[in-house]
Amino acid sequence: MPIFNPFKNPFMMFFPKKMLGIDIGTASVKIVELSRWGGGKTLENYGEINSPALYKESFRNMERGSYLLPDYFVARAIRAILDEARIKTKEVIFSIPDFSTFCTSFELPPMSEKEIPNAVQYTAPQYIPLPISETALDWKIIGGEPGDKRTPIKIFLVAVPRRIIEEYQSVARMAGLELYALEAEALSIARSLVKDSKKTICLLDIGVQSTTINIIEKGSLKKSYSFNFSSGQLTNAVASAMGVGYTEAEEIKSKEGLLSKNEGISRNLYLLVDPILSEVKNIVLDYYQREGKEIEEIYLSGGTAHLPGLKAYFGEVFKKDIDVPNCFSDLLYPPILEDTLEKMGPSFSVAVGAALGGLQT
Ligand SMILES: Nc1ncnc2c1ncn2[C@@H]1O[C@H](COP(=O)(O)OP(=O)(O)OP(=O)(O)O)[C@@H](O)[C@H]1O
Ligand SMILES: [Mg+2]
Repeated sequence: MPIFNPFKNPFMMFFPKKMLGIDIGTASVKIVELSRWGGGKTLENYGEINSPALYKESFRNMERGSYLLPDYFVARAIRAILDEARIKTKEVIFSIPDFSTFCTSFELPPMSEKEIPNAVQYTAPQYIPLPISETALDWKIIGGEPGDKRTPIKIFLVAVPRRIIEEYQSVARMAGLELYALEAEALSIARSLVKDSKKTICLLDIGVQSTTINIIEKGSLKKSYSFNFSSGQLTNAVASAMGVGYTEAEEIKSKEGLLSKNEGISRNLYLLVDPILSEVKNIVLDYYQREGKEIEEIYLSGGTAHLPGLKAYFGEVFKKDIDVPNCFSDLLYPPILEDTLEKMGPSFSVAVGAALGGLQT
């Protein structure tokens, strides 16, 4: 099971019918409740609560690699969403943000399946900049054939400081939930957005505090990089071009974006967006050089995926298909929600992916 489950969960053997996925983002806490019936999944419920002072006091903060606010505050916010939406399900999977996790990939010499766990434990410290005794590891085989004497084994590794895991355990406890598992958000998002695709995809998740660039091949996450580029910077750029406050700048940004007729705004925004395009170019080129695989499609995600003009700009620069996939599209939900879910899709991809992980058999 591709789930980060650092503690022995006696219930792991039984597969629940309903699951919550919770993404404690900077701008908001997002919760989805999914259920399973036969082969399909239903969106039972969802909810979101925004960070109160509009990002001045965010739910989590990169400097500490953790939350800025005390655990009980986050737990209360979660409780408020659950009560308001009348959600009764207790089993939860939390996604852990990119800046609290460390993702890497490496190769092991050819070996049998049984030898791999020990080899990973032994090799991992060379690749992660965290003290190994205080770190929990999760990994997946992403290439090679265990048991075949000629092919090396490729491993995708996620490392999380134990302190972070304890924080999530404590938030779950305080919110009256049962922590089923934790998962790095890059893995959650890959699950919710890349469905049965045989293609090699570059997936960008632009958040308020940081951006991840992920490479997914045949549905499995191969690389994940984290950058400081953030949508908060875009808002600040609009604020300074117009001499307005953050809230007003948010509105202008979302309405006009790169297409703004105000040259000051569009110039400032392009100046910020261009470096991230260069990063994507470098990563795509690097992947081609190392793996011999061309990126066929680019996916945009995170609230900023809807920034006016962004999708077209990526298309122009990369001459590839650019998609803003909707994480709800494979779920069953009342048709009346169609438009709302289309708008919310990009910022709920992580929460949906986390919940889906708990319903896999
Ligand atoms: N139509 C839009 N145009 C541009 N930006 C938008 C639009 N809608 C939302 N956003 C931006 O998306 C951001 C919120 O995105 P998201 O919910 O993905 O962040 P987050 O998950 O809380 O952040 P992080 O992952 O960094 O913790 C806000 O900065 C908001 O301004
Ligand atoms: Mg996010």
